[in-house]
Amino acid sequence: MKRTVDEITGGRRMRRNRRFEWNRRLVRENRLSTDDLIWPVFLCEGKGISEPLGTMPGIERHSVDKIGVQAKRAQELGIPAIAIFANVAMEKRNQTGSEVISPDNIIIQATKAIKDAAPDVGIITDVALDLFTDHGHDGILRDGIIVNDETVETLCKAAVLQADAGADIVSASEMMDGRMGAIRDALNDAGHVDIGTLAYTAKYASGYYGPYREAVGTDGLLKGDKRTYFMDPANSDEALYEAQLDIAEGSDMIMVKPGMPYLDIIYRLKTEFGMPTFAYQVSGEYSMIMAGVEKGFVEEQRVIMESLTCFKRAGADAVLTYFAPRVAEWLNNS
Ligand code: PBG
Repeated sequence: MKRTVDEITGGRRMRRNRRFEWNRRLVRENRLSTDDLIWPVFLCEGKGISEPLGTMPGIERHSVDKIGVQAKRAQELGIPAIAIFANVAMEKRNQTGSEVISPDNIIIQATKAIKDAAPDVGIITDVALDLFTDHGHDGILRDGIIVNDETVETLCKAAVLQADAGADIVSASEMMDGRMGAIRDALNDAGHVDIGTLAYTAKYASGYYGPYREAVGTDGLLKGDKRTYFMDPANSDEALYEAQLDIAEGSDMIMVKPGMPYLDIIYRLKTEFGMPTFAYQVSGEYSMIMAGVEKGFVEEQRVIMESLTCFKRAGADAVLTYFAPRVAEWLNNS
């Protein structure tokens, strides 16, 4: 017996709400706004430099004297916050990453420059050592092992230094155990009770970081991989355990990284903990989209907006994305 469609669906027709844009707008569940954007920027040593990155079409590295202009741009576009990374001069890198606690390092200088130029833009710094070690690892390397507790000591000092310089949120992307609580204590002891901490809670040992490693000059340095401290891409329950610890240790926000291949993790963390949950659309995701755009396989604005809206749908409150200024422009003009 052949039934009509109305007999099959009981008269329910999902397509009614999709007929017109006004109707689609009324039933739209998630919306991307400029408020959701965090812009990661790359610094380089020297003066008067803005150099394009080979592995990330459309992205540049800026010297400290030029970062103020970018910060002002963020402020004008309404981007809430900037996250800072840098390609540190090779001669300043060593086994222990000690430059991270040198009071005038490039991250400290950039923090001050951004605060000066655009006081309304939030600054998110990172305490990981990878920018400062000559082996490219995120922690101190001794006898082939990334030593946890000694690394945490350094992270705490870096956190205080960054907060002193004007960082608003100190993030920790190196996945050492106990670092969020230790950093919280160190900030409090230094009088920085109001400075927030962002935990890279579920940071995976991912291949999607490739272009970033060129951007910060760690691509040729890294010996081995980061699997003894970053999470296994195959794991999901473990992310809940990590989140539970980071939250108990006092983190103000949690993050999932990379982004798009890990939307299920964002969803699980947001659902389970209801914490401010960020996603990091990492360099490899950026470059893959751009490669597709350059080849004409996908439409630039459409796939970028779609990718970011999907983060919102999964439960992310904000997204670190290299597309931030482009997206802010589109959103502001629409
Ligand atoms: C390490 C760090 C990484 C990124 C930011 N900080 C990953 C790594 O090199 O292991 C990646 C960011 C990106 O790919 O966009 N602390």
